[in-house]
Amino acid sequence: MCGIVGYVGPREAAPILLEGLARLEYRGYDSAGLSVLNGHGIETCKLAGRVAALGAAVARAPLRGACGIAHTRWATHGAPTERNAHPHGDCAGTLALVHNGIIENADVLRGYLARAGHQLVTDTDTETLVHLIEEAPGDTLEERVRAALHHVVGTYGVAVLSASEPGKIVAARRGSPVLLGVGEGELFVASDASAVVAHTRSVVYLEDGDIAVLTRDGYRVLDEHARERQPQVDAVDWEVGELELDGFPHFMLKEIHEQPTSVRNTLRGRLLWREGDARLNGLNLQPNECERIRRIVILACGTSWHAGLVGRHVIEELAGIPVEVEYASEYRYRRSVQPPGALAVAISQSGETADTLEALRAARAAGSRVLGLVNVVGSTIAREADGGIYLHAGPEIGVASTKAFTSQLVALTLLGLYLGRRRGLDAAAGRRLVEQLDALPELVAQALAEDAAVQDLATRFAATSNALYLGRGVNYPVALEGALKLKEISYIHAEGYPAAEMKHGPIALIDENMPVVFVAPRDPVFSKVVSNMQEVKARGGRIIAVTTQGNDDLRGLVDHELRVPATAPLLTPVLTVIPLQLLAYHIAVRRGCDVDRPRNLAKSVTVE
Ligand code: AGP
Repeated sequence: MCGIVGYVGPREAAPILLEGLARLEYRGYDSAGLSVLNGHGIETCKLAGRVAALGAAVARAPLRGACGIAHTRWATHGAPTERNAHPHGDCAGTLALVHNGIIENADVLRGYLARAGHQLVTDTDTETLVHLIEEAPGDTLEERVRAALHHVVGTYGVAVLSASEPGKIVAARRGSPVLLGVGEGELFVASDASAVVAHTRSVVYLEDGDIAVLTRDGYRVLDEHARERQPQVDAVDWEVGELELDGFPHFMLKEIHEQPTSVRNTLRGRLLWREGDARLNGLNLQPNECERIRRIVILACGTSWHAGLVGRHVIEELAGIPVEVEYASEYRYRRSVQPPGALAVAISQSGETADTLEALRAARAAGSRVLGLVNVVGSTIAREADGGIYLHAGPEIGVASTKAFTSQLVALTLLGLYLGRRRGLDAAAGRRLVEQLDALPELVAQALAEDAAVQDLATRFAATSNALYLGRGVNYPVALEGALKLKEISYIHAEGYPAAEMKHGPIALIDENMPVVFVAPRDPVFSKVVSNMQEVKARGGRIIAVTTQGNDDLRGLVDHELRVPATAPLLTPVLTVIPLQLLAYHIAVRRGCDVDRPRNLAKSVTVE
């Protein structure tokens, strides 16, 4: 997704802007640029390529000035070319603007602007914004930005410079996140905290409709009625060091190995041993409200949707509440029938996924109370939900989600425990689960110790062109997740299926060239999965099984085994997913893929 950085203060802006863009690279982009007020006007440098190339261009032709904006673009309208890269300027070259989001009425605006004599020179929707500002009425840049944005249908997070108002940045937000970084005598604007946390951990999250004015003397935030408001200043709850590779070759591998810590952090302060319960103060759910819940609908995309499928098993088992899991993008376009007592749970690592955010809004409009299970503090979904659970997994930089997934599973289990203990789950069962949850970080560390065996398999299967992942019950979603990991970072076609469902079609795909990965811990459905393995074996399939340490029942049946420690059946997905994350990673590395920035993918899909 696109990234925005802005700076105004006593220091040279260009180096700070470039460093901020580098911190946003993980979001996925294909072009980059920056503009600086240099005392004589606006100077811009932009290109189709990486931030490093932009830095080299700036080194050759430095941009001088203490106020500037910068952008990384993930192309939506218009090819990833230098011409379409941000910042964009007006006809007179007196404005520069960067934008995240989509201007849905861009074509109409283009026609209006062309008739008004404006020369638009790009294929982007964004360019219409800067020309609208060029001709908007107003004595100040913020007044002209506000007037221009009244014509816009769509979503935006913007930062704007004007040569006639040096030392000022105007930022605005509707539907695409924008925050201010409040430093010592200097101010920042960014699309996420990663870009500013090296300079300050004090941030102000803009609300939809806000316009912010930043100068060296400070900042003002005006709401959608142009009334000044005093926004809360939040503290980013992680360190800039968490944005470093710390010796790992890729963020994805670092984050896979962080999971003993991230799972511990998700649990921290939330296990009530004596009561056999969970402390989830952010839920904002009173005991009587928990009793009145009649149905839960989980809304999510991608890996988060897979976590929701695990959550369904967990919550139905612990709390006895029927749970539906919906692709957010599908849910929001259906006529939502929400009976009284419906609770919607939006799961999102980034908290900015457009489909999930809109589904959350649709669920609320249909009468549901809405919770958010989110990793990024202060993100839009977290702030629009009625309550929720922060994952506290720390920043997830790799585009392929790993530690957020296991933290989502843990958070869903805590939610199931919390609801269950208010709906008949007895204290003894709760205490047992609390003990098993507390043991998880160590078990995750043991699962990671299987890395050498995984690397051996990765070497064997790196050249495969297809793969089938199978699982049953609470591990069927793990099969889906393992297939997604392989697809998205190694570009191998992989499918996840319920193990029993394989007989109803996919079995036609089985031959000696198709590796079949079974997620088969020793659990209540293990013997059924063994039957499915035998069906695959009888057709010459090559079987990789993820199973429980000490389980010898698969010898002679499967070709390769990856082992994870034993735990409660409901918690096995936290462990069985680990070797599949590693397998996808090591295969992708062996295939020379860009593991942290897979082609075509973005870390947070903030467009529909
Ligand atoms: C996961 O590896 C993918 N990067 C993607 O499916 C992701 O899970 C999905 O886009 C949802 O993102 P979110 O959790 O930030 O909402």
